[in-house]
Amino acid sequence: MTQLSDPIDFTHGPSWRNRLTLAPLTNKQSNADGTLSEDEITWLTARARHGFGMVMTAAAYVAQPGKAWLGQLGISDDAHLPGLARLAGELRDAGAASIVQLQHGGSKANPEVSGEPLVAPYDDPATGARALTLAEIEQTVEAFAAAAARAERAGMDGVQLHGAHGYLLCEFLGERNTRTDGYGADIRGKARIIREAIEAVRAVTSSDFHLGLRLSTERFGLSTAEMAQLTAELLSEGRLDHLDLSLWDVTKLPEGADPGADPLLSHFVGLPRGTTRLGIAGKVMDGPSATAAMASGTDFIGIGRAAIADQHLAERILTDPTYPGPSFPVTTTQLRDNAVGDAFIEYFSKGWPQLVTG
Ligand SMILES: Cc1cc2nc3c(=O)[nH]c(=O)nc-3n(C[C@H](O)[C@H](O)[C@H](O)COP(=O)(O)O)c2cc1C
Repeated sequence: MTQLSDPIDFTHGPSWRNRLTLAPLTNKQSNADGTLSEDEITWLTARARHGFGMVMTAAAYVAQPGKAWLGQLGISDDAHLPGLARLAGELRDAGAASIVQLQHGGSKANPEVSGEPLVAPYDDPATGARALTLAEIEQTVEAFAAAAARAERAGMDGVQLHGAHGYLLCEFLGERNTRTDGYGADIRGKARIIREAIEAVRAVTSSDFHLGLRLSTERFGLSTAEMAQLTAELLSEGRLDHLDLSLWDVTKLPEGADPGADPLLSHFVGLPRGTTRLGIAGKVMDGPSATAAMASGTDFIGIGRAAIADQHLAERILTDPTYPGPSFPVTTTQLRDNAVGDAFIEYFSKGWPQLVTG
């Protein structure tokens, strides 16, 4: 059976030294212009120094209209390159592979922050978002590709397309996307922008550059059956180095399922994977839950909240499979002692008040 400490290799890009990865975590620590700050570099490099095989950045906006919050990391402009280059060097020196998560906020972007009108796959009266034109879809695909090329120029090992959590690519996959121009209606059409982004990224990056995709499997207007079908197809097409399922709890049942139903993950983990590696994330908090997640048949595990509270988490789990993980709630002092800066502490405390005290 695969162990947490086993290295993992890919068709493109460097191998990772183990199966534990830092999940993409928005931390709002970037400068107002999207350039990396000292606090954000400190937070990420600490997780690389303390054992994670791969460290992923927070969701980074690929185009100004997709910027979703103040303090978001940017990769839409060459002005973002110097910070990313420094981060890439520091993560490599610490022994971790480095990946930038590429995002467009879609109707969840923030016009007050971006200075641009909201766009989405469809008109959305609730947010005021306007449906993208065909030309704008093409520009968006190009923006993902340009961002990936920028990541490679900065020396990052790869990128992950953010297709989860209701942002633009996920909005395309949802039930509200009834476009009839080839970019909606059925799952083939709804996923077309993702396949075009994959090909566009491959066209502008080298054969050494890692490309992954994150998907949600339910909620956000998604059908789990369609997401399982899409996952099966993308795995068999073999264009991705990894596919990362954002489950929020790797052991959960599908939303609304009867007790005793098969876990959500069971709809995905048995699909033939070819050369694409499968990752999962959600409530892996300690040694036993990491070992159990690995035993479920995945290739790697993303960890979020426990790694915010404990910068040593990866190395502690790798050396002691019984490691109980950090106790929640954590204090703000503990967070500060674990290389979490003030902006991130504020965001984490507000978003997850039950996990932070004082
Ligand atoms: C503070 C915070 C920020 C997050 N930011 C992102 C993000 O930028 N991109 C993303 O895909 N997921 C994001 N997530 C989801 C995590 O990547 C992860 O999937 C989720 O937290 C479940 O893993 P965990 O139980 O180990 O925390 C975020 C989660 C948290 C708690």
